[in-house]
Amino acid sequence: MRIAMIGAGYVGLVSGACFAEFGVDVAVVDVDPDKIEGLKAGRMPIYEPGLDNLVAENVRDGRLTFTTDLVAAVKGADAVFLAVGTPTRRGDGHADLSYVYAAAEQVARAAEGPLVLVTKSTVPVGTGREVQAIVRRARPDAPISVASNPEFLREGNAIGDFMRPDRVVIGVDDDHATTVLKRLYRPLYLIETPVLAVSLESAELIKYAANAFLAVKITFINEIADLCEKVGADVHDVARGMGLDGRIGRKFLHPGPGYGGSCFPKDTLALARTAQDAGSPIRLVETTIAVNDARKVQMAERILAALGPDPKGRRVGVLGVTFKPETDDMRDAPSLVILPALVAAGVDVRAYDPQPGHARQALPAAVDFAGTALAAAEGADAVVVLTEWNEFRALSPDRLKAAMKGDVVLDLRNVWDPAAMRAAGITYSSIGRP
Ligand code: NAI
Repeated sequence: MRIAMIGAGYVGLVSGACFAEFGVDVAVVDVDPDKIEGLKAGRMPIYEPGLDNLVAENVRDGRLTFTTDLVAAVKGADAVFLAVGTPTRRGDGHADLSYVYAAAEQVARAAEGPLVLVTKSTVPVGTGREVQAIVRRARPDAPISVASNPEFLREGNAIGDFMRPDRVVIGVDDDHATTVLKRLYRPLYLIETPVLAVSLESAELIKYAANAFLAVKITFINEIADLCEKVGADVHDVARGMGLDGRIGRKFLHPGPGYGGSCFPKDTLALARTAQDAGSPIRLVETTIAVNDARKVQMAERILAALGPDPKGRRVGVLGVTFKPETDDMRDAPSLVILPALVAAGVDVRAYDPQPGHARQALPAAVDFAGTALAAAEGADAVVVLTEWNEFRALSPDRLKAAMKGDVVLDLRNVWDPAAMRAAGITYSSIGRP
């Protein structure tokens, strides 16, 4: 089998490398020549655990190549996957499908033999039909089947998620597409992964419905955490007691400063817009978006309030700025709302993140970066945890306190034990715990 993967981002690069690991010949294509040159030289454009080794092994074995030449990559491919970005469209909150449509047209024009054009990008319901129309207009004669194969991997655990997914969803219109996709995913049959073959529309909607449901779950526990603070309950006990009910499940019941990242914010917004356009608004998702946006602002206010009546000139050490641990992705990270608000109030912010690669250009220039967590805490009036990197869990409360000037710690990810922090003389607060 031969495939082309269009887009060498988080999804395209991981999926391309994993398909190569499955024994498929994969050409990964990107319009960004620097990205492709870097990949050819063994440099990863993103941080994802294990990705560098997986890429190196498959390049060495001749199954994985990188190119900017889409036409050459499409030639002879059994399937072409679109893994280009679908960011929020400026102005109306819909998904911007211009990259998907442009790539689909390029693939249609380049196609020679029969191929399956598979959308792996997250796209609103109806996009597959539009891709079919684009293909027919560009190449009325070409034997191209259009399919949908949404991706459910999580950054930070992307390779494991791709290799051992809970399920694979394929949206198909014809038997040829089903056969090709099932062959590509054959190794997963050995581990009894459910493969759901559904319509294009259902596949597209499954992805949005799943992400929106998870966003609702996070937002729900965040609001329960706020209530816990008012009434003296512990959100972790509440979450555990809820989550042990099999109908609810324990995952995604961890409170924090609001969800961020490259998927939930844009996908909830796009789903809300799609539903409004279809005359079937999903008010639960609309409310979730509003509650989550407000939460990030409230977190900034909470930090400022902890600094006392005049936060100007006070120093805050921020631990973690990426949207979650084990990634360098800054897209829609809570830090992008919280840190500018602190800077605007005159706070002196010094941040530390284990993967600061994309953070410096994403955050205000006034944010200073430290090389270690303790260096970020040095001389700080307050320390704030924004991302739960494992290394923060191991920080000694005594050393943290000794490094700081003040004694205020706001743990917005509940990584530390309140009793241990208080024993070190720290004025400690976290989310939803007494
Ligand atoms: P990304 O922004 O990291 O990568 C997209 C890549 O596509 C960029 O390198 C860009 O240069 C390239 N590109 C754009 N147009 C192109 C063209 N015509 N030809 C060749 N390359 C082109 O995006 P990411 O995060 O990989 O997301 C891709 C899609 O997958 C999005 O729809 C996203 O919603 C979805 N997704 C993302 C997940 C994630 O965790 N990042 C998880 C599941 C789905």
